[in-house]
Amino acid sequence: MSYTVLARRYRSNAFDQVVGQEPIARTLRNAIATNRVAHAYLFTGTRGVGKTSMARLLARALNAPLTITDCPPPHNPDQYPDKDIQQRMAEAIMRGDDLNVIEIDGASNRSVDEARQLIANAGLAPTNQARYKIYIIDEVHMLTREAFNALLKTMEEPPPHVKFILCTTEAHKVPVTIQSRCQRFDFRSIPAARIAEHLASVLQDEGIEADAAVVHQIARLGNGSMRDALSLLDRVIAAAGNEPLSTRLIDQVLGLPDQDLLASLVDAIADGHVAAALQRTADLLDRSVAPEQLVESLIERFRQLMLIRACGPQSDLIQLSDDALRAAVEQSHKLDVPALVYAIALCENLARSARSSANPRALLDAAIARLALAEKMTDVADLLTAGASSPEKKKL
Ligand SMILES: Nc1ncnc2c1ncn2[C@@H]1O[C@H](COP(=O)(O)OP(=O)(O)O)[C@@H](O)[C@H]1O
Ligand SMILES: [Mg+2]
Repeated sequence: MSYTVLARRYRSNAFDQVVGQEPIARTLRNAIATNRVAHAYLFTGTRGVGKTSMARLLARALNAPLTITDCPPPHNPDQYPDKDIQQRMAEAIMRGDDLNVIEIDGASNRSVDEARQLIANAGLAPTNQARYKIYIIDEVHMLTREAFNALLKTMEEPPPHVKFILCTTEAHKVPVTIQSRCQRFDFRSIPAARIAEHLASVLQDEGIEADAAVVHQIARLGNGSMRDALSLLDRVIAAAGNEPLSTRLIDQVLGLPDQDLLASLVDAIADGHVAAALQRTADLLDRSVAPEQLVESLIERFRQLMLIRACGPQSDLIQLSDDALRAAVEQSHKLDVPALVYAIALCENLARSARSSANPRALLDAAIARLALAEKMTDVADLLTAGASSPEKKKL
């Protein structure tokens, strides 16, 4: 049997399963309960936050209301088909191939202009006892001009049986004439903690063990997108084979530097050991970590240390597992906030100049040496000024 990716197998099946979008789910449910569903909606937000899922749920609530547990029952039940017909409709809607819930991908229907034809057919009545003809248009901002015109024409005088749910990651590219005819919902990026909860429940369903640190790291790397987090989880599961999931495996899958080696590089810098710092850098690059990735990971590491020093280890801003936090707190004693600010700025500069350099490796080594030397200078300056520190001056 072929493998179906987690993101497709775990699509939300009820409004309250769309994680992090509760205000939108509530508003839509209220609209259904009070029979005030708009003709057209515009769902915007970054990828993988639940726009298509919510659109399919709304379509189900409209055409197959008995199949959603957390949806109010219809006012006029006799106008809907039997429950088992609704059930079949619901399954087709969730697969994206129901006849009356027409999914159009603005990005892929462009050339054939099939979209224009589909939209132009909106006037035809729904089939198979369905109440509504519902258009879910994904990446709507990519439609051709002809398709937009057809859409606008239908939206100006929408037949009562037609509903539009337009989805886009770039709302500003949707013509205002269309936007102004829609009720707009902004889907927000999903907080890492909520993603982590969801990943943990998926793992439990799959019977796969993983400790909290792994789940949190994957959630964080999802960057607000549930789909990205689930895709990464898929890759880590595949890489693990029969081993338990570990943070080291995540690093491997993503080509991230080994965290222990990275920590020892930062130790060498903090201790002012130039030779050791250069050796650790070479070790990391030998493990096929890309130089840009190494710089990015260093910046993130310095940032975590700076947050610990500035806000304390208990701050919500710090998202590290318990073990990683303990190690980072220990390391943070060696570096003060100004030194960390300096380190981040230097790495950021390095990232920029390395892009246009003929010898980025030399720039990287030079920057690492400079960081290690800067730490030594801090100590000397501290001794000389006996604590009356002026960080900007001593760094320059
Ligand atoms: N808010 C969410 N709650 C739970 N799962 C989600 C959420 N957003 C996305 N997903 C997961 O990602 C997959 C793709 O989501 P989708 O609704 O197509 O996102 P979008 O349309 O915003 O790109 C879903 O099948 C589901 O597994
Ligand atoms: Mg989508």
